[in-house]
Amino acid sequence: MTTHTIALSGGTHLPTIALGTWPMDDAEARRVVASAIELGYRHFDTAENYENERGVGDGLRDSGIDRADIWVTTKFNRRWHAAPAEGLKGNLQRLGLDYVDLALIHWPNPDQDRYVQAWEGLIELRAQGLARAIGTSNFTPAHLTRLIDATGVAPEVNQLELHPYFDRPAERAFHAAHGIVTEAWSPLGRGNGLLDEPLVTGLAGRLGVTPAQVILAWDVVQGIVTIPKSSDPGRLAQNLDVFDVGLTDADVAALSALTASGIEPVDPERFGH
Ligand code: A2P
Repeated sequence: MTTHTIALSGGTHLPTIALGTWPMDDAEARRVVASAIELGYRHFDTAENYENERGVGDGLRDSGIDRADIWVTTKFNRRWHAAPAEGLKGNLQRLGLDYVDLALIHWPNPDQDRYVQAWEGLIELRAQGLARAIGTSNFTPAHLTRLIDATGVAPEVNQLELHPYFDRPAERAFHAAHGIVTEAWSPLGRGNGLLDEPLVTGLAGRLGVTPAQVILAWDVVQGIVTIPKSSDPGRLAQNLDVFDVGLTDADVAALSALTASGIEPVDPERFGH
């Protein structure tokens, strides 16, 4: 099996499909991570805040796979912005790993205004080899601009809530201009009706795939790393099988034009662990 990857600015290669692990607890994460590895998943996305890093680490070890063949992304919480080395040390201890592949600042938390300090810390931790790649999550272009102006170093990745109801063109254009890879969290829309959208179900019928595969194909054909969560073996398998769905450019554009009333993205100015 080939693992599809996207090159990051720091020189590593990030597998395009990750297993999202929120809201699994340790026991569920352990079980699902091990079975996902058998199905071909090579990228796992967790966070201090998900309270399942131990389970993710145990699942990796249960699978018996070589550490070097797995990509682990994690994130630390707001309390570590002023002490990022301590924050990442906690992630590593809970995961039972010597390094992570990608360490992210989970939220900018502008109310405490310490995210530049957190970023400076991550740059140092990457230099020490404790994180092979570094980035952010839920950062707006204004937050990213501040990091770049302060350090001259752009995040390798920014993880955002992103799906056809919120296709984030301004953010994605900013990322592209600065060599930042976009990752989509809750790509299937957090149960907001996206999978029942007539355009999506119609495309699924035409292409002989499921609605979730249409959405995940929309991500991968645009070079977006996507992080669907599932605990179900059948859905885990279908979520990995999205590289030959056959969306046309017109299909991609039509999906990008979807909007839904009454659905608001999470506001990074006001939210964050
Ligand atoms: P389950 O774990 O029972 O499969 P998101 O990643 O956008 O937050 O979406 C996660 C939700 O979507 C979960 O409730 C998950 O349920 C469900 N889900 C994941 N994969 C699929 C799929 N292929 N088809 C339908 N629902 C899915």
